[in-house]
Amino acid sequence: MSFAVDFSALAGQSCIVNALLYVALAIGVCKLTTLTLSYASLLLDVFVLPPVDFKTYGAKTGKWAVITGASDGIGKEYALQLAKRGMNVVLISRTQSKLDALAEEIELKYKVGTKTLAIDFAADKASNYESIAELLQSLPVTVLINNVGQSHSIPVPFVETSDEELRNIITINNTATLKTTQIVIPLIQSTLKQNKGTRGLILTMGSFGGLLPTPLLATYSGSKAFLQSWSSALAGELASDNIDVELVISYLVTSAMSKIRRTSATIPNPKAFVASVLKTVGRRCGAQERYATSTPFWSHAIMHWAIENTVGVYSKLANTLNLNMHLSIRKRALKKLAKGK
Ligand SMILES: NC(=O)c1ccc[n+]([C@@H]2O[C@H](COP(=O)([O-])OP(=O)(O)OC[C@H]3O[C@@H](n4cnc5c(N)ncnc54)[C@H](OP(=O)(O)O)[C@@H]3O)[C@@H](O)[C@H]2O)c1
Repeated sequence: MSFAVDFSALAGQSCIVNALLYVALAIGVCKLTTLTLSYASLLLDVFVLPPVDFKTYGAKTGKWAVITGASDGIGKEYALQLAKRGMNVVLISRTQSKLDALAEEIELKYKVGTKTLAIDFAADKASNYESIAELLQSLPVTVLINNVGQSHSIPVPFVETSDEELRNIITINNTATLKTTQIVIPLIQSTLKQNKGTRGLILTMGSFGGLLPTPLLATYSGSKAFLQSWSSALAGELASDNIDVELVISYLVTSAMSKIRRTSATIPNPKAFVASVLKTVGRRCGAQERYATSTPFWSHAIMHWAIENTVGVYSKLANTLNLNMHLSIRKRALKKLAKGK
């Protein structure tokens, strides 16, 4: 009430002040409305809308999903949960024994087909990609999960990053993802031509490390930011082919890579994380400001939305807080290494 009185008192002073106040008020109302709508959309995406039906992507009709980095952590869960939905699965990662055990578990539990391929993406050999192409050539593929990824073993200043770690991160996260996707896109296109009404799906694992420039994980951070632009660009290219392309953004998840074992409200296990991804495919969840991108786990979604709508992901404040967090992780990791743990 007092605001209304003050406002009208000010507005009465001159025409210019009057106009400026109305413009400011309109901008404020507009901004508040946008924020409210975007938060409401986040809540709808994450908590209210029904789970996506994978029949759209050919589940239970003999179609195949290809998953990289499939033998452990998040990738293993993608394989299990896609098989549970009725997709046949191609499992690609480094260790044949882990792939065999997972394939056996999946066939027994979900009665779907499996194929495995053990390759080391870090080697970046033409023969790796020839084996992928050969394995997939006769399969009706509709889904690709670009999950394989590597981070720094511990947070490290960029200048001290070893040549091997730097090359592996870029080769595995970027080169392998791009080359595998180039092999799979024509296969999805040809499957969709023969199966009108079915859609294709390419999900790529992003990270908060790519969402926020992350000091002491600079190479990993850059590699995941690269995937954001690449994946969104690809989404535009493939939209008219009925192929949904989406970058999936995640904060920490318990796994060998994160070296975190205990779950919490902000750190789910791979099972809960992947369930949130597959339930909400095609929706933005916490990534309301981004095309073809999703931050699906509920607490990650709220964190993403809150950062984006307050300090912003590229701000000095976000960078400094992130630096301090990773300095403290580095300190603890170095202490552990010194103790030989
Ligand atoms: N965990 C997190 O907190 C987190 C957060 C954000 C984003 N992500 C992203 O999520 C994805 C999966 O991470 P994760 O935590 O599930 O990792 P993870 O538990 O370490 O599992 C990695 C998987 O990739 C395979 N792999 C690793 N290096 C490989 C290589 N050179 N060639 C072929 N396969 C290789 C591993 O195979 P082997 O088992 O045979 O070694 C394993 O199956 C990554 O892209 C990561 O950046 C993770």
